[in-house]
Amino acid sequence: MVKISPISEESIAEAAEALRAGALIAFPTETVYGLGADATNDRAVAEIFAAKGRPSFNPLIVHLPDRGAAEAFVTFNEMAGLLADRFWPGALTLVLPRRPGCRLSLLVSAGLDTAAMRVPAHADAQRLLRAAGVPVAAPSANRSGRLSPTTAQHVARDLGDRVALILDGGPCPIGLESTVVDVSGAAPAILRQGGLPQEAIEAALGAPVAVAGADDHAPRSPGMLTSHYAPSLPVRPDAAQAMPGEALLGFGPGAAGATLNLSESGDLTEAAANLFAFLHALDRPEFTGIAVAPIPNQGLGRAINDRLRRAAAER
Ligand code: TXA
Ligand code: MG
Repeated sequence: MVKISPISEESIAEAAEALRAGALIAFPTETVYGLGADATNDRAVAEIFAAKGRPSFNPLIVHLPDRGAAEAFVTFNEMAGLLADRFWPGALTLVLPRRPGCRLSLLVSAGLDTAAMRVPAHADAQRLLRAAGVPVAAPSANRSGRLSPTTAQHVARDLGDRVALILDGGPCPIGLESTVVDVSGAAPAILRQGGLPQEAIEAALGAPVAVAGADDHAPRSPGMLTSHYAPSLPVRPDAAQAMPGEALLGFGPGAAGATLNLSESGDLTEAAANLFAFLHALDRPEFTGIAVAPIPNQGLGRAINDRLRRAAAER
């Protein structure tokens, strides 16, 4: 049975240690409970997608104790700095450009050159993040398609078999996800309405803010964004072998002659952890395209195939 731990010195230390060891834990925030993993650990981040059972890779929110900790991974323009200083800690997530050489997993960003950062206000989340000392990737701690959890019991019902422990901080005071604002470009855009009202953001900026999807001048909904970051080479999924000039991204033990292999042992979680880094690595002018071996369409394989299909369709 999953361990539901009341907040204490010991349970915080245990959860922090589990995170650093690459395990998944659930923890309270003021919005909803998060399913957390070390955001610098590809394998741990892949486990989040496996646990949630999502058929596609959505970029995840990275949680940090304060703005200073976020500065190590992303850059803040003036507008981003203003919003961070005004609303952090709180129910605001900012999408920001990754720094060159950023140590966050590429899977956290689903291959994008931005990362979503949040500094939660919840006292227990703050304690955990400071104890962990690593950035924590955390979507809401529910299986794909289910309601977001606002109590430890909700998490236990939905994901009890997938987490090392659940920190029980009682019911979430807001009970609604954070508001996501893309401040990576010249003009801000709200990508998801949430716990921090649009009006508060507009008041802070002294100007109206576009809502992605609501008008065509802000085509930055996450699903669309993902497809913009296909490799520059054509991608050919489900390829039995490489054609002359192509790189071959293999999968499984039989992949002799593969330029790179997503997982020698045929492990889908390992393949997901490697996917974006390997696509980047093969996206070089010496190749004419990237052929990708067939990936079993089950578990994380569905999300991998979804991403490969999008990359192929971009051409
Ligand atoms: O309240 C919350 O935000 C909760 C708690 C646990 O903090 N977390 C949460 O995370 O809802 P998640 O991963 O379920 O939501 C991520 C949202 C999605 O809408 C995703 O598409 C968007 O943020 N997002 C993340 N990274 C992005 C990026 N680089 N560009 C655009 N959108 C991004
Ligand atoms: Mg969610």
